[in-house]
Amino acid sequence: MPLDPDDIRTPPPSDPAPEVELEARASKPELRLPEPRLIDRLDDLHANQPVAARAIPDGPAPHPFVSPLGPPIDHGTLEPDAATRSAWMQAVSEHTLELLRTIPQRPAAGRVGAAGHALAQRHRAPIGEQAIDGGIERALELIAGSMDASLETAGPGYLAYVPGGGLYAAGLADLIADVGNRFTGYAMAAPGFVRLEQDVLDWLLREFGFDQPGARGLLTTGSSLANFTALVTARHHHFGDRGDYSRAMVYTSTQAHHSIAKAVRMVGIPATNLRAVQVDELFRMDVEDLRRQIETDRHRGLRPFCVIAAAGTTNTGAVDPMAEIAELCRREDLWLHVDGAYGGAFVLAASGRSRLRGIAEADSICFDPHKGMFLPYGTGCLLVRDGSRLAAAHMGEADYLRDFDESSMPSPAQLGPELSRPFRGLRLWLPLMLHGAKAFRDALEEKLALAQLCTEGLDRRIAAGKPLEIVARPQLSTVAFRLRRGPDERLDDWNARNVALMERINGRNRAYLSSTVLPVIDGLAVTVRVCVMSFRTHRERIDALLEDLDLALAGTTA
Ligand SMILES: Cc1ncc(COP(=O)(O)O)c(C=O)c1O
Repeated sequence: MPLDPDDIRTPPPSDPAPEVELEARASKPELRLPEPRLIDRLDDLHANQPVAARAIPDGPAPHPFVSPLGPPIDHGTLEPDAATRSAWMQAVSEHTLELLRTIPQRPAAGRVGAAGHALAQRHRAPIGEQAIDGGIERALELIAGSMDASLETAGPGYLAYVPGGGLYAAGLADLIADVGNRFTGYAMAAPGFVRLEQDVLDWLLREFGFDQPGARGLLTTGSSLANFTALVTARHHHFGDRGDYSRAMVYTSTQAHHSIAKAVRMVGIPATNLRAVQVDELFRMDVEDLRRQIETDRHRGLRPFCVIAAAGTTNTGAVDPMAEIAELCRREDLWLHVDGAYGGAFVLAASGRSRLRGIAEADSICFDPHKGMFLPYGTGCLLVRDGSRLAAAHMGEADYLRDFDESSMPSPAQLGPELSRPFRGLRLWLPLMLHGAKAFRDALEEKLALAQLCTEGLDRRIAAGKPLEIVARPQLSTVAFRLRRGPDERLDDWNARNVALMERINGRNRAYLSSTVLPVIDGLAVTVRVCVMSFRTHRERIDALLEDLDLALAGTTA
């Protein structure tokens, strides 16, 4: 059966059924209306025929209303009975609780690469016509085995990239939301659930300093999509729907996340119209270089319209000087979007908020609750100061949506690209209800303190003569360091030593770090990062990391 139902419903126009042609001509002979679609003519034809006269046509494309009589349909298989439901819930519950119990002891690195692929291969099962032998127990075994073939992203030792979360309460919220399966695209269809989501968004808007009445929030899959949606909004605000974006210019720093370059291309702006602004020695956007580039582009007849600043870069956790950038954007009439995917959530912690000065002066901000609020992957958030601009950029109308009347509450479908969507609001709301906002603030304070603790540990080692250098001290919860370069050491050799150092640390399986490259005089130097973001990472993990660093250094030539 074709995947597109229209393949069945609309046969090629060159081969119309003769009686359909006759019927169409007889019913509307003198009106010169647009030619009705064959499907509509077939609908009319069948509606006017007695049931017995509906012959099943030979050949392809039977009309969907004319189904051949088959065996009786088994109505029960996709709706398990109460006993089965309960048994499945019990099994899933035991599986999940066991997982939670063992997470802290699991090897920090997880199993990826060749070993991970081999493991993944062993836990495959064919998609059969019948239910799997062994039922839920067997399915859970396959899931557990497949899950072992992965980075241990939910574990306390995961200090790589930007760690995610996985709060238990959010998992429970997903279960409830998915089983209830309410349509939350339009407020009218589920005012209760959309209200809960809106309550969380209103709270977040206030926390981020967007407390004016027209501000709006939107939950997305993550910040890649939130950055994209922000750019769509900025572009629409400055250029409307004209479609000529050949002169539209976007500015971000050399340290920006790659999702920004991707978003620029996806919104139809030439990739070369994204300007890379220089950074200072702390990897923060250089506002003077930004100003110069904007001025030069205006002289060339180009149309600067958007600056994207970072509230915490992925590489080093650098926070761009948002207040100064906002001031420039106001003068130049530019949209300021802040990519706070990693660092934005630190506004929830008092000492984080003070490091994010100027964030509330942006036109839009994105941040990832699946990072800084410890939620499962697939939870991003976009906040827009003037929500009417978000709505204007994402307006969509359709005849079949006419029953969705106006609501006093904003509808997610009118503020972003999605229509049908998972009910993401509950996975924020339930943890906030069950833990309270303070638990999040405290956890974020702890992450800032742990990055500091790690840095002090590095400082002590450097003071004791270890051949290390700190490349980026924590502006939030990331610290970047590497082995010092030897006199006249070739860049490749130096890089290889740093890769080896990180592998030795990771090989001990208590902490898992990732690396990046940062510019040095003759190229790009491999630099090791520690990003503390998991709600499961506590002091003992940082102590373990520093011990493992000592052991790794012991096997390193200086
Ligand atoms: C600064 C920054 N921006 C954007 C993104 C993309 O976010 P997501 O993975 O949620 O799409 C990331 C991801 O780590 C990030 O660190």
